[in-house]
Amino acid sequence: MRIIKVRDYQDMSRKAANVLSAQIILKPNCVLGLATGSTPIGLYDQLVDWYGKGDLDFALVKTVNLDEYVGLPAYNDQSYIYFMEKHLYSRVNLDPQNVNIPNGMNADPQAECRRYEKIIDDLGGIDLQLLGIGNNGHIGFNEPDNIFYRKTHVVDLTESTIEANKRFFEDVSMVPRQAITMGVGTIMQAKKIVMIANGEGKAPIVKEAFSKEINPLIPASILQLHPDFTLIADEAALSLMDV
Ligand code: PGA
Repeated sequence: MRIIKVRDYQDMSRKAANVLSAQIILKPNCVLGLATGSTPIGLYDQLVDWYGKGDLDFALVKTVNLDEYVGLPAYNDQSYIYFMEKHLYSRVNLDPQNVNIPNGMNADPQAECRRYEKIIDDLGGIDLQLLGIGNNGHIGFNEPDNIFYRKTHVVDLTESTIEANKRFFEDVSMVPRQAITMGVGTIMQAKKIVMIANGEGKAPIVKEAFSKEINPLIPASILQLHPDFTLIADEAALSLMDV
């Protein structure tokens, strides 16, 4: 694994946007695996800025998102489809036919998981997967568990994740309890993986995940085994690690 230490959130966002941008320039019809959360917002803003200046073209780019809550419709401002529309889809020339995100409203979530895994297969896999890291070490919504799940599946969110996400909802009772997420295997099959992390709040989990043994109780730790994994993190997020 490669660790790129950056100054702050802005520096992280810009460097990660550079990596995504290089991918799009080198392979205009690439498949990008995208993430939601507070961490990638600055990166998306940077990509939109470069698109506006004519430096980036998304016309042929295909995207697959990591995850989606079960039971939140697209018009709910906490759904991940809503997030992606707001921060990226509506601001660049991505073809709506080329963007993919699990449908959390499918009445048969298991069938939705199979449909989504097939989409990724049919696209020929992911060229570059962007990841954040949850406070409990989750990637996508692969929560700490006794095993690593290979494929797209339905997960019960842990109390820690529900707690972390409740700030976005009126009341903790409104936070969805389940999500559909790409599996750890789906993520690990991406040709290239870039994780972004910032802030001192992430320092303990970054240390757990990347300076210790691989352990499904810290799902992100498996990324140590990926042949092309880069962590772009600011000084605060790396403050507990020897880099
Ligand atoms: P965050 O979430 O970017 O809001 O910290 C990261 C994650 O849960 O993957």
